[in-house]
Amino acid sequence: MGSYIAAIDQGTTSTRCMIFDRAGQVVAVDQIEHRQIFPQAGWVEHDPSEIWSNTRQVCAGALAKADLVTSEILACGITNQRETTVVWDRKTGKPVYNAIVWQDTRTDEIVSSLAKDGGQNRFQAKTGLPLATYFSGPKIRWILDNVDGVRARAENGELLFGTMDTWVLWNCTGGTEGGLHVTDPTNASRTMLMDLETLQWDPELCEQIGVPMSMLPEIRSSSEVYGHFRERGVLGGIPISGILGDQQAATFGQACLSPGEAKNTYGTGNFVLLNTGTEPVLSENGLLTTVGYKIGENETVYCLEGSIAVTGSLVQWLRDNLGLIGSSPEIEQVAATVEDNGGAYFVPAFSGLFAPHWRADARGAIVGLTRFVNRGHVARAVLEATAFQTREVIDAMNADSGVPLKSLKVDGGMVANELLMQFQADILGVPVIRPTVAETTALGAAYASGLAVGFWESEEDIRSNWSKDKQWDPQMAPDRRAHEYHQWQKAVTKTFDWVE
Ligand code: G3P
Repeated sequence: MGSYIAAIDQGTTSTRCMIFDRAGQVVAVDQIEHRQIFPQAGWVEHDPSEIWSNTRQVCAGALAKADLVTSEILACGITNQRETTVVWDRKTGKPVYNAIVWQDTRTDEIVSSLAKDGGQNRFQAKTGLPLATYFSGPKIRWILDNVDGVRARAENGELLFGTMDTWVLWNCTGGTEGGLHVTDPTNASRTMLMDLETLQWDPELCEQIGVPMSMLPEIRSSSEVYGHFRERGVLGGIPISGILGDQQAATFGQACLSPGEAKNTYGTGNFVLLNTGTEPVLSENGLLTTVGYKIGENETVYCLEGSIAVTGSLVQWLRDNLGLIGSSPEIEQVAATVEDNGGAYFVPAFSGLFAPHWRADARGAIVGLTRFVNRGHVARAVLEATAFQTREVIDAMNADSGVPLKSLKVDGGMVANELLMQFQADILGVPVIRPTVAETTALGAAYASGLAVGFWESEEDIRSNWSKDKQWDPQMAPDRRAHEYHQWQKAVTKTFDWVE
């Protein structure tokens, strides 16, 4: 019997394969970045074929780095950037268009016209989501409306839709030679086409949004054996037995398994998820209601989510578009050259603003500038933007749940940044806690997969594998915290009504 579990993490900027042991420790990781395609302002695309090729390479790469052979891997899980939408031909396996990425705002008009009839929260009771450019359903509709001949082919049953989990699974399990067309409820809950209670596609929503149901994958649980890697090829014959959207995977990997437990992942964007138990709780403060996980036949667990579109990608933007830093980690050194933000606030509304505002009309702004402001202050304002945006969604969560969060578990790339973590604790006024394994996204998918094949027995194993690496306690005086946050909130209002 294999002694390790693999996880494929198909993220917004890269694809990774990680291998874990029973203690949840990382044995090996391989990673390849893919191209970010920006055909015009507000549009973001990925090439699905490039991503599939990278997936194969990183699986082989991780095995080689771990010095393992396929038979030593018991099973594999998949986790993915959510909402990103691919439509492909079931016979040729060719995508009909690039993948439209979750950050892409081209569906603005589709979304506003849907909102005319019943408002932005028209579908909230059934889907847990406000009408926004973020979700997959309107992205599918855009492809069907704008790519020549595609609607007719879709209506003819020739085309398949998938989020990236489905695209990767279909290809891993054989593609045109019998690939599985399956997703899990965490990913399906981000399409705006699934009923949160029944975990099934909803014919009425599909009709209203304009998506033929024949394109949609089968929704299975987040943890069960769906099928196996095709025999010829990397990981040949290994079962694939877990699928979780990346933020839900991080929640699972962080062992937020009881109501009231929450985590914040610092990636291209930030995503705070709070476990609310087995009943969906609808937000009155701009949060999403989403499926947290569904392990086999167990009851579904739901979460409230605060999705922030731009955090880590703002640091990349500073590096790639402005050249103000040479590498992402350098931002910490530059920010540390000054005591504070010098009065500058940077609101990165590059894709409009997500939670809790949901303003498609917002665009980014730096405010509070004087000649005093230097490169260090801008670097600090960039880091602080992540922490302020997190504060906004935590405030919304506290208001929705009525129980203030006592501490926040954090993970993802930016949690290596000590200055940011201290400022996060300061601006929230509660401790921030980083686990020993900060790669909780891939770990969560590995757990879902390993539970399905008996590698881990129960959720108790996940809890006992979790351990704390470091904690940051708030040090900022309450009146300074209040002042800083007040200035931030003013800055946010300056970004509204920009797109007319
Ligand atoms: O909803 C979008 C989210 O899943 C993207 O996550 O880590 O790829 O930026 P990430």
